[in-house]
Amino acid sequence: MLLKIEDLHVEAGGREILGGIDLEIKDGRTCILFGPNGSGKSTLLAAIMGLGHCRITKGRIIYNDADITNMPIDERARLGIGMMMQRPPNLPGVKLKSLVGAVAGECDIVSRANEFRMDKFLDRDINVGFSGGEIKRSELLQLTAQSPQFLLLDEPESGVDLESIGLVGKKVHDLLYGTANCDRDKKKRVSALVITHTGQILDYIGADHAFILIDGKIKCSGRPADLLKDIRERGYKECIQCRMVKM
Ligand SMILES: Nc1ncnc2c1ncn2[C@@H]1O[C@H](COP(=O)(O)OP(=O)(O)OP(=O)(O)O)[C@@H](O)[C@H]1O
Ligand SMILES: [Mg+2]
Repeated sequence: MLLKIEDLHVEAGGREILGGIDLEIKDGRTCILFGPNGSGKSTLLAAIMGLGHCRITKGRIIYNDADITNMPIDERARLGIGMMMQRPPNLPGVKLKSLVGAVAGECDIVSRANEFRMDKFLDRDINVGFSGGEIKRSELLQLTAQSPQFLLLDEPESGVDLESIGLVGKKVHDLLYGTANCDRDKKKRVSALVITHTGQILDYIGADHAFILIDGKIKCSGRPADLLKDIRERGYKECIQCRMVKM
């Protein structure tokens, strides 16, 4: 098992947001996380990455047999966990080329950035004044430079225009199948936990399994396309009634 989450309770802003999450992701698998606004999806990803605003009060996160529950964020990144945030912070004073260059190793940064239509942004401070779609492409460029083994993607297609969604979908696909690496011959199937509301990203990636998170708890799981269809046709509450599974 690549990721194993056991009875995870997480607080943010002084109140409990996640109330006992159990979730497993096998090596090489892509899992989808659905759930209504405010249900705790981004908080779950933040807890796995180790972002500072989350306080784990109970439970464990095991990654590749290592207990990372209290591990600092940089150590998690070195273990191969990478995150595309829903709303990443502005980093005034940090140029995109500095950050990408620091993690990209031997890669040609300019041609890399060009692939993401971000070459004109390399001398800009990260996210400062970027549009919604530019932020997504910049996040994906940074993730690609990092070459993570486990991806946490928080609404990768959200706010991206219809023309650019193909580019974002292809780049997520390349990250998952290892073809985004500088050394493209060294392919390895990367694992992922992907949040989506619309399911548009499913057109570009082969997702294996999906979970529905409601009020800080995983309420059901199943095939991504089936759950998405149910959510569209019946809404979250009805969907979990008809697909209630023993977790
Ligand atoms: N730092 C914080 N301080 C206070 N409340 C927080 C904090 N972080 C998250 N919350 C609250 O926790 C709840 C879950 O937030 P979260 O961002 O995880 O939801 P989400 O499922 O990702 O929603 P969305 O689909 O809208 O992105 C929300 O009610 C949010 O306001
Ligand atoms: Mg969110």
